[in-house]
Amino acid sequence: MSIDLRNEDGSPKTGVQTQVKRVLAELFGETPDRMKVPPGSGLPEGGARLARRWYDAAKPDLVHPLGYFKNLPNSERSFVRLDGGYSLYRQHCLHCHGVSGDGMGPTATYLWPRPRDYRRGVYKFTSTNSNKPSREDLRRIILHGVHGTSMPAFEALMSEADIEQVIDYVIFLSARGETELALINEAMSADDADVQSTINAEAGLSIAQTVFESWRQADAPDAALNPPVVRKPSTPESIESGKSLFLGKTKENLQCAGCHGADGAGNGPSFIPLKTFQEIVFKGQGLARYDELLVLERLIEQGGTDQVAADPTKLPAQISGTPGEGMSRMVETSSLVKNLITKKYLTPTETGGVRVTIPADELTDLKKERDLWLASLDDWGTPLRPANLLRGVYKGGRRPLDLYWRIAKGINGAKMPAHASIFPDDPGKMWDVVNFVLALPYQPDLLKGAEAGPLNPAAMVTPASEHSN
Ligand code: HEC
Ligand code: HEC
Repeated sequence: MSIDLRNEDGSPKTGVQTQVKRVLAELFGETPDRMKVPPGSGLPEGGARLARRWYDAAKPDLVHPLGYFKNLPNSERSFVRLDGGYSLYRQHCLHCHGVSGDGMGPTATYLWPRPRDYRRGVYKFTSTNSNKPSREDLRRIILHGVHGTSMPAFEALMSEADIEQVIDYVIFLSARGETELALINEAMSADDADVQSTINAEAGLSIAQTVFESWRQADAPDAALNPPVVRKPSTPESIESGKSLFLGKTKENLQCAGCHGADGAGNGPSFIPLKTFQEIVFKGQGLARYDELLVLERLIEQGGTDQVAADPTKLPAQISGTPGEGMSRMVETSSLVKNLITKKYLTPTETGGVRVTIPADELTDLKKERDLWLASLDDWGTPLRPANLLRGVYKGGRRPLDLYWRIAKGINGAKMPAHASIFPDDPGKMWDVVNFVLALPYQPDLLKGAEAGPLNPAAMVTPASEHSN
């Protein structure tokens, strides 16, 4: 990962960067084909399934690492070669999810939504009470894919054993990435001078083991957030009750419609309007106007107004652009200034300064729109849309239980909040909401002319906490 850690005097923290790399290599191996598995990983067979090895049908209990057979003549190699998690991942997943699991494989730039960046250890479609999926959750996602996105279903492409091994590798990569991010975090406050004492193999191992432990916990038998009551039958009464809950017309004042819209189509007022979203995400237009706003704000900070000129040459030559493309972007200040002049938002003076001549109401609108845009990004810093519930396409599975999980525990990293504790006295009501959601695509008139209850601004979405990659 490219990180740019700097000392207070601006010089690069080369010592720290080298040390993070070294510790990570000690724990997880230098390269994917020379991987190491930290002790206490909890991976099946101690992680042996990550690598290629041979399987001897006559001795089914023995699976040998590839190296063991190096010196045997071919005639004695009556074994089946098992591909192992790493090579299966290379073959099926790498072009989207990337070598390091950062979600930036060669195909990724062309995809929306972006493939998951495993390094944060956050997964959307979990049945557990944490950000980590159980193995069963991963199995389901890999077998069936993520409907409505480019994530394929591998049911027909991979055997059951293949899928188990690739799950091992996803967990391995994810734990490696999460350990790396935590080490970088520690490194932020470490000095080049005392780096050995803060970032060392021992510290790294303890971080890695905590991460692996969270994976183990997600897989514990009692980790699943299962419904406390059995599913209610989908009667017209249940659906009607779910509808009032969805529209926020009950005492719980649910905010579903703020995001999904009173018509369920996914255009609620808590998100950037669909048209703007499409311009930015699919036409690649629009982020520039928020970048320009950054320049305007800096010039105003300098004291620039429509009377007092500011000096654009005092701005840095490049600034980091508005988040929204999943990776950080540097933009040229001078070309932004040029655009602003063309738009008459800035007016050049004879002495090389600029006066800030954007009308006040346009400036306010632009700021509001930018805030809404930032609030419409997921925790990976990429643009997000609330589901269109009229389509009946569910990313995390379409069984009633899947929908229960989605609504009760929310979608991690993706704004959709958890609702598990909303009905303490009558948990069966959650099934009303599920029954309503499942009925909607078949009864599109259910929400015809519907109006939502009051929007609660405190429950509106807030900007994603980090847009760091
Ligand atoms: C064509 C691109 C593509 C390929 C190939 C691909 N994926 Fe994905 N994958 C995605 C996208 C896109 C998402 C995210 C969908 C979303 O966030 O809505 C995703 C999400 C995931 C998730 C996260 C699920 C969650 O709950 O957050 C896992 C795990 C995953 N993929 C595993 C795999 C594995 C394992 C393979 C190979 C066997 C694979 N993917 C191959 C595109 C791909
Ligand atoms: C703060 C905004 C917000 C609120 C409130 C909200 N959702 Fe969502 N919901 C989302 C977003 C965003 C997604 C899409 C996430 C993604 O694609 O990764 C989503 C996805 C969904 C999905 C699709 C799940 C899937 O597997 O694809 C369902 C169903 C859903 N929401 C139902 C509801 C219901 C019912 C409520 C109210 C009880 C609700 N949502 C409240 C933002 C919200």
